[in-house]
Amino acid sequence: MKIFKTRCEFQRYALELKRSGKSIALVPTMGFLHDGHMSLIDIARKKADVVMVSIFVNPTQFAPNEDFDRYPRDFDGDVAKCIDHGADVIFAPEPGEMYDPDASCWVEEVNLSKPLCGRSRPTFYRGVTTVVAKLFLLAQPDYAVFGLKDAQQCFVIQKMVRDLDFPIEIIPAPLVRDSDGLALSSRNRYLSADERSRALSIHRALLAAKAAISADRNAMAAALEKAKAEITAAGGRVDYVDILDCATMEYPLAGSRQVIVAAAAFFGSTRLIDNEIFEI
Ligand code: PAF
Repeated sequence: MKIFKTRCEFQRYALELKRSGKSIALVPTMGFLHDGHMSLIDIARKKADVVMVSIFVNPTQFAPNEDFDRYPRDFDGDVAKCIDHGADVIFAPEPGEMYDPDASCWVEEVNLSKPLCGRSRPTFYRGVTTVVAKLFLLAQPDYAVFGLKDAQQCFVIQKMVRDLDFPIEIIPAPLVRDSDGLALSSRNRYLSADERSRALSIHRALLAAKAAISADRNAMAAALEKAKAEITAAGGRVDYVDILDCATMEYPLAGSRQVIVAAAAFFGSTRLIDNEIFEI
């Protein structure tokens, strides 16, 4: 396992690998790795000669009032998990290493990033696309794997790759759930036992909405209201529950096929997201 802490050494190594004809798969993460991340590494392992995992809690995707300072970190545990799952390289820059102090360039997608999380976290996706573009240029990957728990993130990055001609295949990976249905997230560790059990209402509400809309696509508005009510009744503070066409990230039209029903809600001070993607 090679661990790089500086952009310069990491990029030099990646370029050497490319010159020697090796294919590279990148799994970008913010660390505190769980089984969801492990599933991304397993997918990457099957795709390329070299698997790289980046571990970086990216300050530019957190608003000042968000949890950047207390975001969970466990570097030694992360390294052990990466070794266990056959990753070859970790890139783990210190916070001051990733951005020059006077950095003033951003990468921004301005359509798909606007609804859902983009509405309540207006600077989030600009931070994500900027850091992911930098990681792509440093790691030189042929493939990059992103989990569908943040499906909007995955769609935004696919759009960035297409629009800016990055020669990279984005591989969307299925969302991974705990046995009780809670979507795996590093932020789940903030939840008390009581909040955690009440947070299961998010997935229950999404499944019910999916069933109702699959049976009758005219039931969208009513199904979303019912889902909001279920999460609220469980003590959650709903940020959004919405349905969008996956291709446009707009409200589904008559011709829409694949849709996402997505929710974000706070339990205590913890904001959780979840979604169901299906055909209508
Ligand atoms: O999904 C995440 O963990 C982050 O948004 C990412 C893609 C690693 C960028 O910081």
